[in-house]
Amino acid sequence: MTTGTTTGTTDTLPDSTTALGAASAVLRRNWGGAYTVPATGLYPHQWSWDSAFIAIGLRHLSPRRAQLELDSLLSSQWADGRLPQIVYDTRRDDDYAPSAAFWGSAELPGSPPVPTTGLVQPPVHAWAVWLVHAQDPAESARRRFLQRAYPRLVAWHRYLRERRAATDGLVAVVHPWESGTDNSPLWDDALSRVPGTPRASIDRPDLRHASAGERPSGKEYGKYFWLAERYRDHDCADVDPDHPFVVDDPTTNALWARSELALADIAEALGHDGAPHRAEAARIVAAMEALWDAELGVYVALDRHTGELVRKATVGGLLALLLPADVLPPGRADALVRTALGPRFLDVDGTTPPVMVPSYDATADDLDPALYWRGPAWFNMTWLVLQGLRVHGLEDLAERYVAPMALTAAREGFPEYVNPWTGAGHGTRSFSWTAALVVDLLADDAPPTSQP
Ligand code: DGY
Repeated sequence: MTTGTTTGTTDTLPDSTTALGAASAVLRRNWGGAYTVPATGLYPHQWSWDSAFIAIGLRHLSPRRAQLELDSLLSSQWADGRLPQIVYDTRRDDDYAPSAAFWGSAELPGSPPVPTTGLVQPPVHAWAVWLVHAQDPAESARRRFLQRAYPRLVAWHRYLRERRAATDGLVAVVHPWESGTDNSPLWDDALSRVPGTPRASIDRPDLRHASAGERPSGKEYGKYFWLAERYRDHDCADVDPDHPFVVDDPTTNALWARSELALADIAEALGHDGAPHRAEAARIVAAMEALWDAELGVYVALDRHTGELVRKATVGGLLALLLPADVLPPGRADALVRTALGPRFLDVDGTTPPVMVPSYDATADDLDPALYWRGPAWFNMTWLVLQGLRVHGLEDLAERYVAPMALTAAREGFPEYVNPWTGAGHGTRSFSWTAALVVDLLADDAPPTSQP
């Protein structure tokens, strides 16, 4: 693989105060009154896991706005408990594909009054709710934030357990979009079974906002649309035995376990018993043993159709680092830390260690540092890995990445993702979760600011 040219970045980086101000401005511009769009051009609606990461940053600027962000997503919940991947703003229905009209969610049983997709995204929400609450417990109590969120989060996790994890106790994604890591190499083999011939014509408004070389290919989009049609045409009911793409995703399952621990904290703050949520987190971690690849030192994906592991190291395979050592099997935290710091990812002892965590194994021949989830570093994933290192006592090491990461984001205009080695920006700019997580990383050092 090629990592691109290393630029002498540090002398051209803005300072933290400038970065914090610029990040806050991005979040203000992308705020629509009840939620924040991920990017005004490329992603003009509300996205599920984006809103969770955005709220984590927003809590430092306005705890109230962070609560609204999550409230608005939770209010779009389906009757079966699912939180939809996208909640559409129908005024922008020509600006993103597939559109609200493609899904026609109003016709589907149990859908909310607002138009949404039927798919889901990784369950980081309960953790985000807890962090937002903890930022300002008085404001949270005054607005009864936890009281409103808790039953909805419980229903969301019940949907995952009962509708997606019935077979092996792990959540399976039924579409690459559900993993949030759309064109990850983890999905290549399962996608090879999926026809690329949807009935709908494939519109690519995304290519007006990011170059084709940085987005999934036309071939992949044909398969994405075909799979989405198939799921929609089976009423998004999770009862199609021949759905060709059913894969246990390491990112989704690690975040599910982490969010169960947050549900325990929320339950206890409300005077309920947190123990069932802690037990559920332990159960998920035990089930995840089926995804552990000792040789690669990461959790991988499992294709339910073949029963085979997809033996590729991706950043999502490190996210069990978010779980405390006593929740993980003995020795697992150390093994994950070794992999995170080793040549596949942060390569701390190497000659050209990256600025941020590559999304895909840096030693893989097919890594592409500019192509979406096939190599670039993403701010949410790097933020998650840094939180994981902190959980396991490596605060000083995590701290080393904070300033370069935040300042790279500011210098590059808050890009969607970057070349992990040079920090060069890719994808869209003024991307909300990049800005929000920069705010979160810098907030500890900065005086609180307040926004309406
Ligand atoms: C996209 O359109 O690229 C999104 O990742 C789908 O959620």
